[in-house]
Amino acid sequence: MAQRQPTLFILFTVVFVVIFSGNNKSTAQGQRLPPARYDGFPYQTHQHQDAGEDTIKIEAFFDPVCPDSRDAWPALKLALHHYGPRTSFRLHLLPLPYHDNAYVTSRALHIADSLNSSSTFPLLEQFFKYQEKFYNDRTRNLSKVSITKEVVDFATVVVGNSYSSAIEAGFNDRQTDLKTRVSFKYSASRGVYGTPFFFVNGFVLPDAGSPLDYNGWRSIIDPLIGSKSSRSVDPLHFFL
Ligand SMILES: *[C@@H]1O[C@H](CO)[C@@H](O)[C@H](O)[C@H]1NC(C)=O
Ligand SMILES: *[C@@H]1O[C@H](CO)[C@@H](O)[C@H](O)[C@H]1NC(C)=O
Repeated sequence: MAQRQPTLFILFTVVFVVIFSGNNKSTAQGQRLPPARYDGFPYQTHQHQDAGEDTIKIEAFFDPVCPDSRDAWPALKLALHHYGPRTSFRLHLLPLPYHDNAYVTSRALHIADSLNSSSTFPLLEQFFKYQEKFYNDRTRNLSKVSITKEVVDFATVVVGNSYSSAIEAGFNDRQTDLKTRVSFKYSASRGVYGTPFFFVNGFVLPDAGSPLDYNGWRSIIDPLIGSKSSRSVDPLHFFL
């Protein structure tokens, strides 16, 4: 009995220290949720971004090495340019665990965005264009270090040659790792489990995980625009 109490005391102390230092660590390294900035990358189709009440908010969840995300982007981009300031768009990333290079390419997009925000979407398009290069089969024999090096060289072409060493340093910067983790956590928190997923004004579109073509986008957005211009007739209750 006399021996037990010190043992318990030590146990409680250890548990307390572990919990306390755990909290301290996450605060010191900034791995806090919610993050200070809303996740994702805005896409500008016009100079002044007016994300007012009347703007239809479109969000997409992509994985840079997912073929369906690649196939979905051109039609969505076309639709965004068609609607201009009537829509606003934000891209979120969900690096899928069964795509070996999803995380490193997603992290490259966060690094590119922090160095030259005009390069974020061009880099995404470059990943889509040469996606096969980063597929599991093609990179099976490569080390993690050599893949990262390849991604750095790949990104440098788009972000700008003068950023080469900054991009490389970005992969050793814990902040860019945290941003990529936040993207993953945000996607999970929205119930997104595949790519591409689309949300319009906060609601998920049906057929998640499949690309949507241009006419599909028009058939979703046109009625929403129409219902705004004729406010007296609210078409919502026909569907509800
Ligand atoms: C930023 O990226 C864009 C898109 O690739 C590029 O046109 C521009 O030259 C880059 N800016 C700098 C300063 O390198
Ligand atoms: C990986 O290595 C194996 C064994 O050496 C080889 O058979 C295979 O072709 C290589 N794959 C690639 C994509 O280089």
